Amino acid sequence: MEHQTRKSNLVLILDYGSQYTHLITRRIRKLSIFSLCISGTSSLKSITDLNPRVIILSGGPHSVHSENAPSFPDGFVEYVEKNGVFVLGICYGLQLVVQKLGGEVKVGERQEYGRMEIVVEKNDNEAGLFGMKSVGDTQCVWMSHGDEVVNLPTGFSVVARSQQGSVAAIENSMRKFYGLQYHPEVTHSPEGMETLQHFLFNVCGITADWKMEDVMEEEIKVINELVAPEDHVICALSGGVDSTVAATLVHKAIGDRLHCIFVDNGLLRFKERERVMGTFERDLHLPVTCVDATEQFLSKLKGIVDPEAKRKIIGKEFICIFDEFAQELEQTIGRKPVYLVQGTLYPDVIESCPPPGSGRSHSHTIKSHHNVGGLPKDMKLKLIEPLKLLFKDEVRELGKILNVPEAFLKRHPFPGPGLAVRVLGDVTQGNALDILRQVDEIFIQSIKDAGLYDSIWQAFAVFLPIRSVGVQGDQRTHSHVVALRAVTSQDGMTADWYNFEHKFLDDVARKICNSVRGVNRVVQDITSKPPSTIEWE
Ligand code: XMP
Repeated sequence: MEHQTRKSNLVLILDYGSQYTHLITRRIRKLSIFSLCISGTSSLKSITDLNPRVIILSGGPHSVHSENAPSFPDGFVEYVEKNGVFVLGICYGLQLVVQKLGGEVKVGERQEYGRMEIVVEKNDNEAGLFGMKSVGDTQCVWMSHGDEVVNLPTGFSVVARSQQGSVAAIENSMRKFYGLQYHPEVTHSPEGMETLQHFLFNVCGITADWKMEDVMEEEIKVINELVAPEDHVICALSGGVDSTVAATLVHKAIGDRLHCIFVDNGLLRFKERERVMGTFERDLHLPVTCVDATEQFLSKLKGIVDPEAKRKIIGKEFICIFDEFAQELEQTIGRKPVYLVQGTLYPDVIESCPPPGSGRSHSHTIKSHHNVGGLPKDMKLKLIEPLKLLFKDEVRELGKILNVPEAFLKRHPFPGPGLAVRVLGDVTQGNALDILRQVDEIFIQSIKDAGLYDSIWQAFAVFLPIRSVGVQGDQRTHSHVVALRAVTSQDGMTADWYNFEHKFLDDVARKICNSVRGVNRVVQDITSKPPSTIEWE
């Protein structure tokens, strides 16, 4: 994606820690403009290397007066002016511009939080921040600031004020500096996107030329330049969207020098292995080795009830299998594989280097816990991460262009440790896994039949390590209890439980008890995240 960033149509966002920063990136990309977000305290070189046309300074929780208030690097103003780069400060970013260019920001007496009305004070038509809006026009915006601009730097003018009289928008079109005291990117600023769009297209002259087809072509070029003709590459496929799209892209670039492995660990869903292998082979023509390691995993899990212990065992087994795969491969092709493909996404990249003072911590611990497997360190593979600048919905779009079947792209997430975290307690006890697979399949198929699958982030069944008394066919039973869980979510970090209609639940519960031997009770999980997690273990 190196070439992509060199286009002068890049909108670069310097992140000062606002919770909305990534929303700006996403919204700009939706306008078919390439946008990247880097830390607000990045070096001048990392900024100039990217050669942006526009730089947006984000909001943030700081005061420009606080000690260690984050700021752009020395030489920034000279660089942007010399190269004709447009700068838009949002909230904290506006205050930074004012303070650094010689104006004055005061600790606010009138703090402004929430929805406010602002009034346009200046109209420069097409060239101005508010385009064709007239002086006196009002609009609702979302404010969130304590400090207040009291003196503008020379050459700047006020374009809009809040009804309390505070500065809401400023510009200096000669120097190409602009500022909005509110957040145009949030839906609570209904005309915010129109302003941002006008600014980028009409004021800065950006063209909307960022297309997923180009991203694909660029990536293929980059991979081809990186991987030498004699080099081989490996990829572990999980059956999920990210690794599948990443592998398909690399395969398109280097063909069968890509070697994929898919491990059946005995913890997969009903007919999962057949289904995903079908897609890999039939639809995507990926070279995949399928390893049946059911016995290897289940024997190690025997008697283990602690969730963390289960995860660790599974992770370790994955590593052993990958290691064997790489060694066997070396024997067949006569050389060590050099690269490893990973389906890392943009949010993982940003999250792992949060902006200073943002209060967000390093997320590597979360990722390593979620990223079951990984590869042995001594394999010394170099990484290819072709999706590392994309968001999840963009990966789906890319997958579509790469002919990954739509149904596959829309699949609910599935955890790396598989059904081991959905059978509570010892997964090898009796036929728990088998029962769970049948129950889960009925639940998911019913959701699909009801047309609800795409409105739900994730749905699954859980096998509980208890028995309850029931009566089936005039007989007293002492059988298993299963729980159903369905949640809506944006990113899996928080979630709400999904409220099915009474009849749907009634039908599903009946179907499960009638057709899955050994189950006489179905319960539903009605907790959100937090306080619960999505998975039960
Ligand atoms: P929790 O249970 O933490 O899950 O609320 C959030 C999302 O992450 C998935 N998940 C995992 N994915 N390996 C993964 O690849 C894991 O170990 C893992 N644990 C949870 C979970 O399914 C949900 O989508």
